[in-house]
Amino acid sequence: MTVGQGIAGGKIILMGEHSVVYGQPAIALPFSKVAIQCSVDFIQGDNTVDCDFYHGKLSEAPVLLEGVRALVERTMKELGKENDGLQLRIESNLPAQRGLGSSAAVSVAVVRALYDAFKVDLTEDVLTELVGVAESIYHESPSGLDATTIASGKAVFFEKNRGKKYLPMSIDGVLVVADTGVFGQTKQAVSSVRTLWNNNPDHINPILDRLGELTMLASECLETNDSVMLGRTMNEAQALLRQIDVSDDRLEHLVEVAIESGALGAKLTGGGKGGCMIALCSTYEAANYVSQKLKEAGASNTWFYDLKEIVSHE
Ligand code: MEV
Repeated sequence: MTVGQGIAGGKIILMGEHSVVYGQPAIALPFSKVAIQCSVDFIQGDNTVDCDFYHGKLSEAPVLLEGVRALVERTMKELGKENDGLQLRIESNLPAQRGLGSSAAVSVAVVRALYDAFKVDLTEDVLTELVGVAESIYHESPSGLDATTIASGKAVFFEKNRGKKYLPMSIDGVLVVADTGVFGQTKQAVSSVRTLWNNNPDHINPILDRLGELTMLASECLETNDSVMLGRTMNEAQALLRQIDVSDDRLEHLVEVAIESGALGAKLTGGGKGGCMIALCSTYEAANYVSQKLKEAGASNTWFYDLKEIVSHE
């Protein structure tokens, strides 16, 4: 019998991926078109897990579940319970490794399910901190942006080690989110930016600084409902992300097709080197056309995201 349930959506980074790792601000949005659900049963014996690619003891799970194993151990300690006797079932329609925050979403769903199973209230701060345990295993020096956005389910303006504020969203526009169908490589992308930065900080720092400025500009655009300007900032961000080598041919192609089909701006979202891109369109009609063109150009899936529908709080 299910004793605990937890659910979590994904996230989209509108502006500031990678530069956020170096202390620049970023803006991320919750993405609830896709979700991960975890349910917990109490059983006898060792913890077990059932998911798409593994059924068995959590202690013997493949390396992809290493973060979940560490997360369950830490969460049970936090709850003051023995770390055994749990059966976790994880179901997802959130494509993994596409820059949509699947690793943080699994963790949020698992922690929520465990707290629900033991009927203990869970604060957003505790949730974000616990999720950080798994995120540091999956990603190199994670900024905390994914965990913060997914745990809150709100549009966030985020600065590493400084915290977050929730963004008021009053912009007219529809994002088309398109999947290249290729696994993104966040860990490798973060580590290759680190190598570039170590080798040539004088070249990389101005790029990261400019990405930070673009985030500030984008935040103003969200407040003043300036989707044309927001599109321009996205285009410039994409050019900079290309310079730090986190884009790839497929992402570039989809970005180009989106712009040619009338999008106001387009860029990769998340870690890059595969994964997803986003295109900003002024209306649903325009978004439909862009989405159709992106599919013809090889996108394996597209989603629409009305920017006015995002939950936002002052
Ligand atoms: C990954 O979704 C976002 C990155 O900026 C890494 C991070 O923030 O930890 C690439």
